[in-house]
Amino acid sequence: MNVQRTGHDAITLMIEGAPRRVRTAPGRRLSEVLREDLNLKSVKVGCDAGDCGACTVLIDGRQECACLVPARQADGRRIETLETAEPALRGRLQRAFLSKGAAQCGICTPGLMMAAMELLRETPRPDAAQVEDALAGVLCRCTGYRKIISAVMSVHAPEEPPEPVSAGRSVGRAVPRLDGQRKVDGTEVFGADHVPDGALLVRAVRSLHYHAAFELGDIDAWAANTPGVACVITAADIRGENRYGVIPPLADQPALAEKVARYRGEAVALVVGDPEAVEPLDLGTFPVTWTPLPHVLTEAEGATPDAPQLHADRPENTLIRGRVACGAPDAALAAAAHVVTGRFETSYVEHAYIEPEAGAAWMDGQVLVIQACTQAPVMDLEDTARVLGLPQDRLRIVPAAAGGGFGSKLDITLQPLLGLAVLKTGKPCRMVFSRTESMQASTKRHPGTMEATIGADADGRITAMIFHGEFNTGAYASWGPTVATRVPVHASGPYLTPNYRATSRAVHTHGPTSGAFRGFGVPQAAITQEMLYDDLALACGMDRLAFRHRNALRDGDRSPCGQVMKAVGLVECLEALEPHWQEAKEAVAAFNAGSSVLKRGIGVASCWYGCGNTALPNPSTIRIGITAEGRLKLHQGATDIGQGSNTVITQIAADALGVALGAIDLIGPDTALTPDCGKTSASRQTFITGRAAEAAGVALRKAILRLTNLADADAITLSPGRLSVSKGGQNREIDLSGMPVDANGYVIAAEETYDPPTTALDAEGQGTPYALYGYGAQMAEVEVDMALGTVRVRRIVAAHDVGRAINPLLAEGQIEGGIAQGLGLALMEEYLPGLTENLHNYLVPTIGDMPPVTSILIEKPDPEGPFGAKGLGEHVLIPTAPAILNAIRDASGAKITKVPALPHRVLAAIQAARA
Ligand code: FES
Repeated sequence: MNVQRTGHDAITLMIEGAPRRVRTAPGRRLSEVLREDLNLKSVKVGCDAGDCGACTVLIDGRQECACLVPARQADGRRIETLETAEPALRGRLQRAFLSKGAAQCGICTPGLMMAAMELLRETPRPDAAQVEDALAGVLCRCTGYRKIISAVMSVHAPEEPPEPVSAGRSVGRAVPRLDGQRKVDGTEVFGADHVPDGALLVRAVRSLHYHAAFELGDIDAWAANTPGVACVITAADIRGENRYGVIPPLADQPALAEKVARYRGEAVALVVGDPEAVEPLDLGTFPVTWTPLPHVLTEAEGATPDAPQLHADRPENTLIRGRVACGAPDAALAAAAHVVTGRFETSYVEHAYIEPEAGAAWMDGQVLVIQACTQAPVMDLEDTARVLGLPQDRLRIVPAAAGGGFGSKLDITLQPLLGLAVLKTGKPCRMVFSRTESMQASTKRHPGTMEATIGADADGRITAMIFHGEFNTGAYASWGPTVATRVPVHASGPYLTPNYRATSRAVHTHGPTSGAFRGFGVPQAAITQEMLYDDLALACGMDRLAFRHRNALRDGDRSPCGQVMKAVGLVECLEALEPHWQEAKEAVAAFNAGSSVLKRGIGVASCWYGCGNTALPNPSTIRIGITAEGRLKLHQGATDIGQGSNTVITQIAADALGVALGAIDLIGPDTALTPDCGKTSASRQTFITGRAAEAAGVALRKAILRLTNLADADAITLSPGRLSVSKGGQNREIDLSGMPVDANGYVIAAEETYDPPTTALDAEGQGTPYALYGYGAQMAEVEVDMALGTVRVRRIVAAHDVGRAINPLLAEGQIEGGIAQGLGLALMEEYLPGLTENLHNYLVPTIGDMPPVTSILIEKPDPEGPFGAKGLGEHVLIPTAPAILNAIRDASGAKITKVPALPHRVLAAIQAARA
């Protein structure tokens, strides 16, 4: 196919050995031409700046970022993308990525594979260092890279295919992800990949000020005089309520700002029109007059009495406070044998998913359909319908594959903007955030300033803790209340703390809105508590691991909320680390004895994390049914953002029902097709949606047994139009084709809901905030350059109590990915609005930063979890940063009090320790 674009220059790209002629405008990127003109959608765009490598292709056999190559420079050259590259090597790579679990969300996968192909052609049996070098230009935010390295190294010697999983026996098996093929062959449809015919492009006009009043000029004249612009949309076009928010009573964020912009990057208007005209448009010509106003950017500034108030109904910029208290902490601290105290600060952290927010929308009859990346389709539906003034039955949210989320894609971004554009123009519309827009407009991890005092008795047992955290919640509420509530519940860490008072406050500023980011504030609090635990262990003269073991929560202990804990696997996690700890202690001492500039050290930290909403209802519903044709369909509304819920939930349902995994057709999230499985957050999907899937599978099995008059079944199998059930020597067959069909199209079906049994917390935070917790402990070994202040993490050993590993391969992937983000939190990630709004200035861990990880899965089943399983997604990040920071101190004496531990901070801390 040759693509004609009148008025442009013709170039020829050699693809799969054949010339492809394309007419292209000067300055167009090769990535645009490949994606838009040649429909090679495996070429992903994450930054348009050569920072993320998602668009990596081979040009004359060499890897290049296609976003950096002007299309005309590729004239006459050989271009390979994942769709068009040599099939044999590509197939081996794809199988290796699948079997090793090297693709999670999959947005980075095509780029990584192209880089790997260049390497493997020259070096068929690369070692780990060669893989790291070759893939260094491609970022992955999900996997922690280790499984990618392992996959590329294994291509020359593929493993034997795993033994088939028998019916009802998939739980506990390292099944490759069921949605993996489309991730490794580049056909997964992310938010930017679906382009409806005739779609207009939507772009946002955004504030470049932290705080500013604005007045719009003659926008009608501007639109009329700007070629290709179909319309401009402002807040005046909003027919519903111009506010949204994940916690409806506190919904305060306008879809388009009115009169005042409260943070840098806030959208004030939309420009909609012909993509070729609107894409290159200089929005600096848009008629808007800005009047900058005083602003505050830190939680300390926001809380000062004379700070500008962001919301009239929230005095002192206080969004909310949180509190948990038990016992008599002041008296217990006064009586403690050892007391330590400290103050710690954390920074804004950007989610930096490789896929910027993107989506498309169109009308399907009277229904507005929005297909965009999201973690929470039903919440999107409710919020977007409110803004648009549409009844909810006239809106359908179809999640696109999410190229990472980590919490930020829980909040709506472009959904109402797309809806406004479609409703105003009557045409399909699409919107794709640039990297800078994504970083400016999306939520961040809350920066925190935390102080704590902890006491222990002469035997090294914790007697009391007092904690207070001030958290910068940015311009709007988002998940600030959740952080303020969750932190006091968790600030003790997973340790018995009989006397306790933890308080928190979320403070508004003119920074970006802080939201959900893997842990909801618990990682920040864990830095405070775990670093002070090292102080306390030293004061008590105890080994730091032994100190934690002594104080670890055990079954029957009460949490600071008064909850009696059960199925606590922390002791087992710490004991699993013990041999690694002792061995590392000796190795580090031996190394340090012969080294003066480079010093090594080890650190340890633990985690606990309550799965699901804090003390609030949190249901998931799963439907499963059999059609008259003999197909088994699982309606699974939990969005899989790479963590693996498509696979894990299906494994649970298959085993509960007693069928083979392959017998199930998965119907993924779609508000028109799937019941509400809640949001993908707070490590709730394996637990809560998993419990609903288990219940639905059991209910369907019972319904089948009732129909067949059998008490139990050895096998349930489906064939076209027939259902067979066998038990012992008996076999029953049901002809499905003549059975009546229910409203959902099923002849036999079950739908079950699970809502975890929690209770509200009282004024002192007493109650049952979560029905189930997960636990873990990690050990880090680091090397510190005492002259430069640089830190290299040499290895991590991570032991996590997952209750039951539904899928060990995916569990390990979560652990490694969480550790990579924890490493970034500890050592490099600091979002500064106005300064680090791209992936060049904002650093995330690369393949070269990620150390080897030893993952240890502890299985202490919780009766509340499906097959005993607990959540894992948030837990894995929590101990990493404090373990690294404690290791830095062990190596160098440097006590870090502000993260990230950038070299200048480490050097200052080394000097302070020496002084
Ligand atoms: Fe690499 Fe998601 S799998 S960014």
